[in-house]
Amino acid sequence: MDVKNYIQENRERFLNELLELLRIPSVSADSRHKGDMAKTAEFLKSKLIEMGADNVEICPTAGHPILYGEKIIDPALPTVLVYGHYDVQPPDPLDLWESGPFEPVIKKTERHPDGAIFARGACDDKGQMYMHFKAFEYMMQNNALHCNVKFMIEGEEEVGSSNLGPFIIENKEKLKCDVILISDTSMIANDVPSITSGLRGLAYMEVEVTGPNRDLHSGTYGGAVANPINILCKLIASMHDENGHITVDGFYDEVLNLSAAEREAMNKAPFSLDEYKKALDINDVWGEKGYTTIERASTRPTLDLNGIWGGYTGEGAKTVLPSKAYAKISMRLVPNQNSDKISELFARHFEKIAPPSVKVKVTPHHGGEPVLTPTDGIEYRAAAKAYEATFGKEPIPARAGGSIPIVALFEEVLGVKTVLMGFGLDSDAIHSPNENFGIFNYFKGIETIPYFYQYFKELKS
Ligand code: BES
Ligand code: MN
Ligand code: MN
Repeated sequence: MDVKNYIQENRERFLNELLELLRIPSVSADSRHKGDMAKTAEFLKSKLIEMGADNVEICPTAGHPILYGEKIIDPALPTVLVYGHYDVQPPDPLDLWESGPFEPVIKKTERHPDGAIFARGACDDKGQMYMHFKAFEYMMQNNALHCNVKFMIEGEEEVGSSNLGPFIIENKEKLKCDVILISDTSMIANDVPSITSGLRGLAYMEVEVTGPNRDLHSGTYGGAVANPINILCKLIASMHDENGHITVDGFYDEVLNLSAAEREAMNKAPFSLDEYKKALDINDVWGEKGYTTIERASTRPTLDLNGIWGGYTGEGAKTVLPSKAYAKISMRLVPNQNSDKISELFARHFEKIAPPSVKVKVTPHHGGEPVLTPTDGIEYRAAAKAYEATFGKEPIPARAGGSIPIVALFEEVLGVKTVLMGFGLDSDAIHSPNENFGIFNYFKGIETIPYFYQYFKELKS
């Protein structure tokens, strides 16, 4: 049976299994969900076993477990390593969800006229990860598995994957493969298929600014003692100049600039600035001068506040000159920038610009390196052929603005390249309330994946 027919026959079940997976609140950041994390791993383990995978195991880590399973049909054949994550972002703010984040519902939307599944993790990454399970089921049931396959599904992607690095290094032999296959990114539109050709890296920092040794009366001391919140705002504001360039000393030193031809090609991708603004309800975009919105959101590095706090934020007013102010700041990095180095540059810069009236402390959180997946390798070419087979048109390479911190380490340790076959849309509201994933996208992913195995084997031999 061909894959289209197999999907047709099993449509309801494929959907219901995903809905069941989405009902488990696998929020990695929240320790109250530790049991749900284990439950999700168990659920996926039983599915892998049911479908006929071998050596299926739940590997404990210092954090949440990693699920592993494989099907080696012939050691002489190429091996595909599928990576995905079963953890999801916290669902809050809860009151902005139109239905429960862990009570999936299917609704039609403008972008998904065939319906979309609304739930936390629907697109990022349970829905996209589970496409690989169902594609595997099809290949197993129809004698159509063209490559060996290994599944490695982690539970800590949304919190920085800190236990996955050591796992990969320790299990280098077990994870040996010819390509890493990931569906955890997006494509341009359902009628404009694209393959993600790069990811940004990340350097995440926390800063603490301390003024006086205690909260002060803002009348008695105000105007005479530095207010750490005022200072923090000023320091942060100074980190972009009037052209939207980041002022951290040395920030752009290693940035690999794109050629004029590369820039021209990427800006040819279908994109409507008006629709973009309308979808976000903004009157204008903002960003680095001299670059388009597509470039700003993918090939250029950024510096953004993720949170800022301090002082009195309760009901009514309290006249206080606070002792401390804090901020969480993330920098998205582009090829050739290095997260440790940028963290270091940031810390040095922040310490340098802080006035003597305050003390500052800079603490780096997790990071990750940027990646580029070349479009001339057989991995990418096999993926492009697979999209052509199912979408009926050639996919466009498109760089993503987001990060998957483990990918660069994967490539380094395992010595292979990655293919990022993302089937979500940027409008699927990942990390936001009302996250959703198109039914079309789910089934299109399941349909496309087996072709990748087939073409990868063909191109590899
Ligand atoms: N799936 C996303 C990354 C992504 C989204 C890449 C859209 C490209 C397009 C992933 O789950 C994610 O959210 N990554 C985090 C990394 C962080 C938690 C270390 C990110 O990009 O913020
Ligand atoms: Mn993800
Ligand atoms: Mn995510």
